[in-house]
Amino acid sequence: MTAVATTLRAAAERIGLRIGSAFSFPAYNEDSRYAAVLAREFNCVTAENEMKPMFLQPERGRFDFSTAERLLDFAGEQDMAVRGHTLVWHNQMPLWLRQGGFSRLVALEILRDHVQQVCAHFRGRVWCWDVVNEALNDDGGWREKSPWFQMTQTEYIERAFVWAHEADPEALLFYNDYGMELAGAKGDACYRMLRDFLDRGVPVHGVGFQGHLGVENRLDDAFANQLRRFRDLGLAVHITEMDMGLPCPVTDEARQQQAEEYARRFRLALAAGVSAIVLWGFTDRYSWVPSFSKGAYDEALLFDREYQPKPAWQSVLNLLKEAGARSE
Ligand code: G3I
Repeated sequence: MTAVATTLRAAAERIGLRIGSAFSFPAYNEDSRYAAVLAREFNCVTAENEMKPMFLQPERGRFDFSTAERLLDFAGEQDMAVRGHTLVWHNQMPLWLRQGGFSRLVALEILRDHVQQVCAHFRGRVWCWDVVNEALNDDGGWREKSPWFQMTQTEYIERAFVWAHEADPEALLFYNDYGMELAGAKGDACYRMLRDFLDRGVPVHGVGFQGHLGVENRLDDAFANQLRRFRDLGLAVHITEMDMGLPCPVTDEARQQQAEEYARRFRLALAAGVSAIVLWGFTDRYSWVPSFSKGAYDEALLFDREYQPKPAWQSVLNLLKEAGARSE
């Protein structure tokens, strides 16, 4: 007889799923309850901020891995996989790089240096890297306002993958973006880009769907079909930043809808062969949603502000247990 799973982590491990959360270093540092729940419920972490370039290379040529190392230590002690996030993004670039106005050649040199130093430093300890984050606009065009695009056009995207692979051949390399969960121009553009990379031997191994979608977005088979398209290219598919804001003021009815919708999104993702589902945090105490939405949305995660499991936690746990029972 198998023991009954009472945590997301135990239930996910039975079906070979990585279930993760963003890791907030300030929260970890200031609140002792944070680490206990994180390690109990999840087997994977992504640094919410601390592995982004503005933290890792605050001045040109000066790398600071100290805060990221704290996360790596925690993950190692708790036997959790690490999704590295992110090597290249238009946001949270250090000021010297954002405002540098470098020529194409110098920009590529800086890119190679950053990607190679970071990947080599964490080699063997980072399971996957979000190599490039959000290089596409919602209409499927390139994000031309990105300093990286302005300095190198689209060249930075594939070079980053090549250099990351050289520095850490074992890490799985991902392209990560939002707003591709349903069919549309952005997902199509991403599909074309990744198919082209695969055809030309650019080392890309997976695609990350961020999954920042409020509860009003009731997902259906179109979501699973979209994920499957990328699986059919031979790519690993991860949900990398899932959360689900509720409109304020939050009602019990909305919390119930959230529970149903979380279970539905997990079910569709599992049916499509997703191998990791990472939430963008786990406690409503520390979520980017209220500040980003200027108070319009809140309570986006599975635990409340006092670390108590919400109906959404229970529904995800039930769903994972059902999936486990089916696979036995
Ligand atoms: O580092 C400063 C700190 O010095 C200062 O005291 C503090 C005061 O507000 O701000 C700190 O910067 C904050 C930074 O996170 C690091 O903690 C910024 O204000 C804050 O806006 C920034 O937000 C992050 C955001 O990315 C930046 O765009 C969120 O925490 C983080 O959740 C969010 O994560 C992104 C993913 O990386 C990519 N996909 C979208 C997702 C949500 O936006």
